[in-house]
Amino acid sequence: MIQIESLASTHLREVLALADGAFGGNYLTREAVMPYIDHPDRAAWVALAGHSVAGFLLARLAAPDPSWPDGPVVPGVRAGILQTIAVAPGYMRQGIGTALTRHFASDLAGRCKVCFSVCWERDDAPFMRILDRAGWKPVKRLPGYWAEDSLRQGYSCAQCGGPPCTCVAVIYQSGISVNP
Ligand SMILES: CC(C)(COP(=O)(O)OP(=O)(O)OC[C@H]1O[C@@H](n2cnc3c(N)ncnc32)[C@H](O)[C@@H]1OP(=O)(O)O)[C@@H](O)C(=O)NCCC(=O)NCCS
Repeated sequence: MIQIESLASTHLREVLALADGAFGGNYLTREAVMPYIDHPDRAAWVALAGHSVAGFLLARLAAPDPSWPDGPVVPGVRAGILQTIAVAPGYMRQGIGTALTRHFASDLAGRCKVCFSVCWERDDAPFMRILDRAGWKPVKRLPGYWAEDSLRQGYSCAQCGGPPCTCVAVIYQSGISVNP
């Protein structure tokens, strides 16, 4: 039985270990994740299997990057941005990623009209399929999206082996258009 709860500091160790395996060592650090706990413009949830962290999702409320939406951005519009999601290998393909994505959408639905997600483009991209099934639309393809971050943070990408990370990001949009 999986339970979704807000991220707490007691989950950090497991969340960081999960992120190291999913994205590459040092992609997420304690300093980067701590601000998601009890922050008005950020949100983070863990999926718990008993007391173990089986998955997590990090999100924030912010103005979208102007290059993302399919059309001009209304000044001042705030979006729900699904930044990072991962499920531990032993818990994959049981619906946890789908449940975390739904939780994000229902939590932020009342707080913003549009959501974006930065997805990793991969041959086997279960997260893109989760978003496709939930009605999200791909609006932008951004090669080298993580290149600078990977060099600055010095993390080794679990997919391409960088730095520099040569992976391609696909921006997905959900909710109303942000065109004026
Ligand atoms: C992307 C990710 C979070 C998906 O998590 P997940 O919990 O496995 O996702 P779900 O179980 O909801 O769905 C994944 C697949 O399992 C299937 N599934 C869901 N419930 C299932 C069940 N009870 N039994 C069997 N399969 C099931 C889904 O249909 C889906 O299949 P498909 O991809 O062939 O369409 C996970 O693969 C992951 O952590 N990947 C590495 C990190 C990553 O890529 N994150 C996204 C970065 S942008």
